[in-house]
Amino acid sequence: TGNDSNLSATIHPICGMQKIFLHSTAKAIPYAPWVNLTVLMVPFLFLAYPWDKSCLKSMRLDVQQFEKLDAYAAKVNIKSSVEELVKTLLRVARTDLEKVRVIWTWICHHIEYDVLGFQNKDQQSYYPKDVLQSGKSICEGYAGLFEQMCRIAGVHCMNLSGYSKGYGYRTGQTFTGDYDHAWNAVYLEGRWHLLDSTWGSGSVDDSCSKFIFRYNEFYFLTHPALFINNHFPDNSNWQLLKPTVTLEQFENNMLYKSEFYKMGLLAACPETPIIRTVNGKAALSVESRSPALFMFELKGTEEHGLMTLKKNGMNLELYPQKTGKYKLQIYAKPSRGSEELYKCVLEYNLECSSVDKNVFFPKELHQPVGPSWFTERQGFLKPSHRDPLIHTNDGRCTLSFILSKDLSVLASLHSDNSSLTEDVSRRHILQICRGNQIDFKIHLPHPGNFALKIFAKKKSDTGNYNYVFNYLLSCPNAEVKWPVFPQSYSKWAEDYELVEPLTGLLPANRNVQFKLKLHGIAKAFVQCEKMCPLTLSKDGYWEGSYNTSGCRDVFVMVLENANHKFYSHILKYEVGTH
Ligand SMILES: *[C@@H]1O[C@H](CO)[C@@H](O)[C@H](O)[C@H]1NC(C)=O
Ligand SMILES: *[C@@H]1O[C@H](CO)[C@@H](O)[C@H](O)[C@H]1NC(C)=O
Ligand SMILES: *[C@@H]1O[C@H](CO)[C@@H](O)[C@H](O)[C@H]1NC(C)=O
Repeated sequence: TGNDSNLSATIHPICGMQKIFLHSTAKAIPYAPWVNLTVLMVPFLFLAYPWDKSCLKSMRLDVQQFEKLDAYAAKVNIKSSVEELVKTLLRVARTDLEKVRVIWTWICHHIEYDVLGFQNKDQQSYYPKDVLQSGKSICEGYAGLFEQMCRIAGVHCMNLSGYSKGYGYRTGQTFTGDYDHAWNAVYLEGRWHLLDSTWGSGSVDDSCSKFIFRYNEFYFLTHPALFINNHFPDNSNWQLLKPTVTLEQFENNMLYKSEFYKMGLLAACPETPIIRTVNGKAALSVESRSPALFMFELKGTEEHGLMTLKKNGMNLELYPQKTGKYKLQIYAKPSRGSEELYKCVLEYNLECSSVDKNVFFPKELHQPVGPSWFTERQGFLKPSHRDPLIHTNDGRCTLSFILSKDLSVLASLHSDNSSLTEDVSRRHILQICRGNQIDFKIHLPHPGNFALKIFAKKKSDTGNYNYVFNYLLSCPNAEVKWPVFPQSYSKWAEDYELVEPLTGLLPANRNVQFKLKLHGIAKAFVQCEKMCPLTLSKDGYWEGSYNTSGCRDVFVMVLENANHKFYSHILKYEVGTH
């Protein structure tokens, strides 16, 4: 469509460094100007590698095996000559693989990306000896030094060039003109393998004014099926793929950042970077090898979406409330390691041509929504409602869980629409504990959409409750208007159970039936004008009836110990005027 024209503009000839971006601080590295390298085709076999998702590398290897080599290479500090440097590095390397590894590690830890040189590339020398001496260069210098060091070490290596999706890349852009990046191929164990020491070394900030060494293992012998995500070689043989990818496919393909694979993520759906809403809705999913945590940002906010976590990934539904183009970013972090930052793993352009005004989410709704492996880990097992969205037509519902830990729990209701205070909103939720099962009975005060938030803390903790998760409650029925539950006092024990009356507002001048399960008490009463004892039935309930005539407030009280004279208030009801 014509609207895309701004996306197809040619980008500046910059060499993309990898973009590592952490949540809210998107960072990337720019690259170099490009000089076309003459690639000498070596008559080795170009083997294609199918990707079975089990390995991110083009050969089975455990990088742990390089621990000593890496530590050694990182410490070597020689600038006199490339030959001298290689000779020193090779002292610890026996196989070709080890030789390539020490060279790789040395370059990744000693050559700095030249953010200034990149801007006036004509004055730069990419001769390996100059790169070594200055300790900085752009992609071409990294790749050239790598090639020369391998040549000295006796390992076949190629300078490769092509287009890359690095710094400055915009989703959906086309690639024309000069190539913007350089990398290498090495010949090991009978096959070619790809690596990019520029992107292995680190990244740059947003404005490409500062380089930060941040080693990236991903670009060492990267599997060709993954390397093609952001590296398009000038000669398609160097894709090492069969069939090869066309430039148009490369342009249209989703960019999976190295973070995506490093996080154990396997696939995303849709696989195209541009998504369009259908009837106001867009949906996407991410598949992962093991549980991971996710976030999203739609034009910088986490609104208008419903994200649910799955054991092996996540699902996201989006309902933008305005037409237009949106940038959608998906962030992830491993399930263990709460101190880690979320990293951007995917970027989409979302095009919204129609809006579904019927789907809106309360502002208080947090992502992800609904129960998951994560809430299980926090102690909430066997949820009665697995879906993040709970529909209720009569404005009532009961949620239950089995608590795997000794937790105190709380819930609260939030809607954009009501003037309910936190205290009153709590009184629309009745909590019932039976052993390790917890029920939340909910009576909505009015129709609409609500966030039902659940909080918990260890019983032994004296501090605050922590937010655990939330559901989206939806009630379309305009008639709905449930009163509050009775007010409970601190003496109301967690394992008490109220059977009736559930409404906090009793009718005037009526006989009302009371039925409660109360543990470890001597006597129970209902009181207003007079005290009326409840009797303990055979099945363990305190029961009785009480006439509300002449009452404004009615209390339920207990005597905990028959020898004491102190009654404790446990519940309070109000009586209607009629
Ligand atoms: C690789 O690139 C470097 C730097 O531009 C150059 O010195 C070297 O000769 C190139 N190697 C080959 C085989 O073209
Ligand atoms: C607000 O509440 C009214 C009734 O109290 C209801 O009809 C309406 O749907 C609600 N709107 C929202 C946005 O919740
Ligand atoms: C008690 O309740 C009944 C109705 O349930 C009513 O008819 C009666 O007059 C009430 N008042 C008294 C003082 O019993």
